[in-house]
Amino acid sequence: LKLLKEYILQIVKTIEELQNIRKNLNGNIGFVPTMGALHDGHISLIRKAKDENEVVIVSIFVNPTQFLKGVDLNKYPRKEEADIKICQMCKVDYLFMPNSMYEKDEVLIKAPINSYVLEGFTRPGHFDGVLQVVLKLFNLTLPKNAYFGKKDAQQLALIQQMVKNLFLPINIIACDIVRESSGLALSSRNVYLTPEQKEEALKISKSIYMAGNLIAKGERDSKIVKDKIYKILENLDVEYVRVVNKRFDEIEKIEPSNTIILVVVRFGNVRLLDNIWM
Ligand code: PAF
Repeated sequence: LKLLKEYILQIVKTIEELQNIRKNLNGNIGFVPTMGALHDGHISLIRKAKDENEVVIVSIFVNPTQFLKGVDLNKYPRKEEADIKICQMCKVDYLFMPNSMYEKDEVLIKAPINSYVLEGFTRPGHFDGVLQVVLKLFNLTLPKNAYFGKKDAQQLALIQQMVKNLFLPINIIACDIVRESSGLALSSRNVYLTPEQKEEALKISKSIYMAGNLIAKGERDSKIVKDKIYKILENLDVEYVRVVNKRFDEIEKIEPSNTIILVVVRFGNVRLLDNIWM
């Protein structure tokens, strides 16, 4: 008779507790770092981690160092109860929810130069904070596999670069963007859109799909692709449309397997990101 072990989500609140637990864990650890307000995009990362590892650790920590001073940190959506339910539903083993991850006045390690373009240009220092907290979380969880969404393409590229440069023995698993059936890429920020804005926002995924089709048919000129994207997005407050390689250098000629097309559109204070990897 096979006895089924009762499943219980273990919530871990302190760094010391996590370190003690980690010492006694065997098997492959899959790690999904998040800032909470979990949605289907996160759920897809957690499910993949469950499929590919013996133990899954999810972290929820709204990391202050990746927010610009005084901007949106307090407004970041917090949904602790719902997040815990989602982790239970997905049979996460450990949910790490620390109150703090920093010493007082801790100095951040400087992220590389390509972290100051695009998302790092509008939010200088943002990626210093992201890389610092991700490295801390990696050191605590010591995962074999860590799961990140392709939606935050620049974050993903910088984390891949950090892991490579620092010889971290961790596989970074890049996961596809999850979309609503309408095409809208899932984001914690979508809740701030009015129904009208949400409707308008569909032009973003439409422009991304159009670009993908154009390239699939053989178009290689970045300018032509960008112009067509801008045409679909006309009337919207477009922050940028860029065609970059996986190191985030802008490229004039599209290179299949090494190209990302990035779009950022603003609706008031809400910035919506979308992208396609070719
Ligand atoms: O993508 C996020 O949610 C955050 O940037 C991360 C990776 C959890 C670091 O705080």
